[in-house]
Parts: sequence; structure tokens; C-alpha cells
Amino acid sequence: MSISEKVKSVIRDVPDFPKPGILFKDITPVLANTSLVHEIVQELVKDFKSGGYDAIIGIESRGFIFGSLLAYELEIPFIPVRKAGKLPFHTISESYNLEYGKATIEIHQDALKPGSRVLIHDDLLATGGTAAAAARLVHKLGAETAAFSFLINLSFLKGDNILFDEFGVKPNYLISY
Ligand code: PRP
Ligand code: MG
Repeated sequence: MSISEKVKSVIRDVPDFPKPGILFKDITPVLANTSLVHEIVQELVKDFKSGGYDAIIGIESRGFIFGSLLAYELEIPFIPVRKAGKLPFHTISESYNLEYGKATIEIHQDALKPGSRVLIHDDLLATGGTAAAAARLVHKLGAETAAFSFLINLSFLKGDNILFDEFGVKPNYLISY
């Protein structure tokens, strides 16, 4: 079985969460499987080992999990992008439409050096709104979004095309539905 098939077989589908009509992809059974987490991290870093990235952004909250494991593995700084009001220092913010609702995310204004090459990680690419807002934060700080990394791509929502059209970067992901 390929790593993608293995991960798919462990992800749990939860219907009607958090709202009727949404089929939630629950990765908690994946996180509880230590050998699978190890394999996933090794697979995700493959594409980025020779990329010369200066930092990785993890998007609150599910993007923190593999984002910090990737940062550790690549030995680059982990930069949190958080939901509005959570970061303690001076921040800049971006608002976006989510698959279900609207939200604002923030980054510390001194989090990235201008010109640095940034890898943005999140667990899931749906409409692309969250990742696009994170990339706009990166650009506002004068840095470059050099890559996007996701565990899951919901391909029917075309978030990968949206990110490519806006940022000229083809997103990486381990599995696609
Ligand atoms: C989910 C998911 C991604 C985002 C994807 O996060 O973890 O971050 O939605 O959707 P998009 O591509 O349509 O923007 P959510 O905002 O539900 O919060 P969480 O990570 O804190 O659970
Ligand atoms: Mg999220």
C-alpha cells in the first residue's frame, strides 16, 4: 500500500461536522499512529530538503502539528500564523472566506526577514482562502512564498488552481480527494 493509501485508510470521515453538509476529514487517528506520523513527515520533507527555505509557517491550529514536525526535520524556524487576537506582539492581519464562515489570521510583524523564502504548511487545502491569506501576510512582510505544503487537498474545490493563479506556486500535497 502506498503512503497516500495508508493515510487515506486511517483518516476518519465525520459527516455533518461542524455544519450539516460538511464531510469532515478527521486526522486525529493519523496523529495517534506514531509510525505513520513518522512516514508522513519523511514523505512531506522529501520535496523540500533541497529547497533552501528560510522558515516554515504553520497555520493555526491544525497546521501547527505537521508544520512544527517539518520545521524540526528541515531545521528551519517555525513561524505561527494565528487566528485574530492570539499573538501577543505587534501583528499584521488578513481576512478571508473559509469553506464554512469568515475568519482573520495574523502574523507577528517581525516574524520574517524581507527577502526570505517561506514554506507555508497547513493540514488541508479546501477553497485555498486560508493559505492565500497566509501568503499575503508573507508578502506584506517583504518575504516570498516559495512553496505550499498540505497533507490533504480537496481537489473538487480547486484551491490548488486558486493558489497557483495568485502566487505562481504549485501546491504540494500528500493525498487528494
Ligand atoms: C481548516 C483547515 C485549513 C482550512 C482550509 O481550518 O485546517 O486550515 O480550514 O480551508 P480553506 O482552504 O477553504 O481556507 P479551520 O479554519 O477549520 O481551523 P482549525 O485548523 O483551527 O481546525
Ligand atoms: Mg486550519
